[in-house]
Amino acid sequence: MSTKKTAKAKNIESVLKEDRKFAPDPAFSKQAHIKSLAQYRKLYNASIKDPKKFWAEQAEKELLWFKPWKKVLEWKAPDAKWFVGGQTNVSANCLDIHLDGDRANKAAIIWEGEPAAPGLPGEERTLTFRQLHREVCRFANVLKKHGIKRGDRVMIYLPMVPEAAISMLACTRIGAVHSVVFGGFSAQSVADRIQDCGAKMVITSDGGFRRGSVVPLKQNVDDALKIKVKGKSITKTIDKVIVLQRTKNDVKMKRGRDLWWHHEIDQVSDQCPPAKLDSEHPLFILYTSGSTGKPKGILHSTAGYLLGSKLTSKYVFDLKESDVYWCTADVGWITGHSYVVYGPLANGATTLMYEGAPNWPGPDRFWNIVDKYNVTIMYTAPTAIRAFMKWGDEWPKKYRLDSLRLLGTVGEPINPEAWMWYHKVIGKGRCPIVDTWWQTETGGMMITPIPGATPTKPGTATLPFFGITPEVVDDKGKAVPKNTGGKLVIRKPWPSMLRGIWGDKKRFIETYWSEVKGSYFTGDGCRQDSDGYFWIVGRIDDVLNVSGHRIGTAEVESALVSHKDVAEAAVVGRPDEIKGQGLVAFVTLKGSSKASKELQQTLRNHVGKEIGAVAKPDLVRFTEALPKTRSGKIMRRLLKQIAEGKEVKGDTTTLEDVSVLTKLSKESAA
Ligand code: WTA
Repeated sequence: MSTKKTAKAKNIESVLKEDRKFAPDPAFSKQAHIKSLAQYRKLYNASIKDPKKFWAEQAEKELLWFKPWKKVLEWKAPDAKWFVGGQTNVSANCLDIHLDGDRANKAAIIWEGEPAAPGLPGEERTLTFRQLHREVCRFANVLKKHGIKRGDRVMIYLPMVPEAAISMLACTRIGAVHSVVFGGFSAQSVADRIQDCGAKMVITSDGGFRRGSVVPLKQNVDDALKIKVKGKSITKTIDKVIVLQRTKNDVKMKRGRDLWWHHEIDQVSDQCPPAKLDSEHPLFILYTSGSTGKPKGILHSTAGYLLGSKLTSKYVFDLKESDVYWCTADVGWITGHSYVVYGPLANGATTLMYEGAPNWPGPDRFWNIVDKYNVTIMYTAPTAIRAFMKWGDEWPKKYRLDSLRLLGTVGEPINPEAWMWYHKVIGKGRCPIVDTWWQTETGGMMITPIPGATPTKPGTATLPFFGITPEVVDDKGKAVPKNTGGKLVIRKPWPSMLRGIWGDKKRFIETYWSEVKGSYFTGDGCRQDSDGYFWIVGRIDDVLNVSGHRIGTAEVESALVSHKDVAEAAVVGRPDEIKGQGLVAFVTLKGSSKASKELQQTLRNHVGKEIGAVAKPDLVRFTEALPKTRSGKIMRRLLKQIAEGKEVKGDTTTLEDVSVLTKLSKESAA
């Protein structure tokens, strides 16, 4: 198992050389919220000179307050309180504020379901702001009826259907804290998260459609609720399970515990006034991988998060009343929270939700959706773009794509070829690309182009958003000169920053606030170029980025070691053409166990069962021993070189047994 380990800043190298630069199209700039680099710089400089003034003005202008705040910020590192004394409500800011004017009957959510079979169109559903408001109120009343109170945790484990957004908004309406678990995660992951946050309720569906088959979500919840550790249930806090009917597959309903969504919703009123919640009232917990075995429950709070997601959506997507905005992320990830649900809805924008996969029934699925709804803004991940490139230009070329006016990416560094392809083949050279850097922890975008203002360069997220103070520093926390690699930190607090790790203050401090005193440590390596643009090099802890999803190597290792045949495991990343990084597991077996192809497959599946399919290693390699230091630490650096098929270089003098390395390298060559 790994112990916390952070690479030294001086080892961070950025090898990318990229000189292409794309100025914003004057026609775009002219109609944009922010029209020039000079305007951006002026606003940015003012926001940094007096951040409290900046954020206070924005909070006043952008949000509905039931009670004004008394103090903009209370900051005692690492604890921030924003808009202290104020009261607001997230659902009221996403819905109620739009009901008095022209937006009431505007589409809030356009939903496209996965087609039932090739050749069939996907199901369609549109909810106007008024309809969405009504559904949220009704579901909020269902939550209340079943005993959910302010501060109670509610787990949401749903496919990409409007009810996912309805559930989230209903929680915020009454002050319950939601924790959305990605539908691709396993029963074990659901159980672990329920245990960690002490959830009282699970909202799920009978199943979800995925590439023509049904993902048995309710069955997974049933299995999760049966899991025992040392004879004791770990999910006994769960009182009720609400089940949405989506796939109509057979499910078992446990009397007294399980309730059908459609029955419940019919028995309540469609009026539910929004709870007046303190600015700092906890809004949601979202689990993300860290560098130790257990996922961290990242906690966000009400007003600051809302302001961050609203403001970034407005300026980075240059949102306008007529836009059809599509973020392809699942609501199970932070991108789905901030940029499928909260940010766009707070701006009164139309947000498109798609239930299925990008290549089902065919590799043209996304482009078909763009043309069908005249999507104007599309926000997706580099891993998806690389997959589209591989599937071939003929798929997007079948479509007009002329409604698109802005493209975005998030989740990992985008390689310049993928950026150029996105620019040419999808954007037809016409659409600005916003490459947005941020994290689950930051709540909203932090480093990003402003589309009418910032000249872009393929591969960099460019410059900071208003009020954000990133810096690249050395191991002592001192700013490094331009074009030098270092650690990326954020110097000053910002409203949508995380408020903690649920139930683990110590880990919160150790992970984010101990690396560089007084600053937030992002875990990313970075370099600033001569224009001041930030180039993210990647994670510098034991966290990998597989298809834009954060996977902690330690988490996969502990899943492997929980298998009866495994003695020890070390997991490292290797470059992958589509996924960015792929996982390679080096495994030593217990005495009587035999290495075999079947066991490789069994172990991959075991990880799938313990965590979810996203964490399955691409390759499981059996080995007699792992390279270790004399103090017993696995030398992942060496394993990484082996996994990448490289010659092992660098210092090996601390190796306890050099022959292990020779054997491993020989096995690789064979
Ligand atoms: C990486 C996703 C380079 C980074 C919103 C970060 C990026 C981690 C970018 C957060 C980008 C995200 N360029 N790297 N535009 N966006 N990352 O929490 O390593 O799932 O720390 O949040 O993804 O991943 P998370």
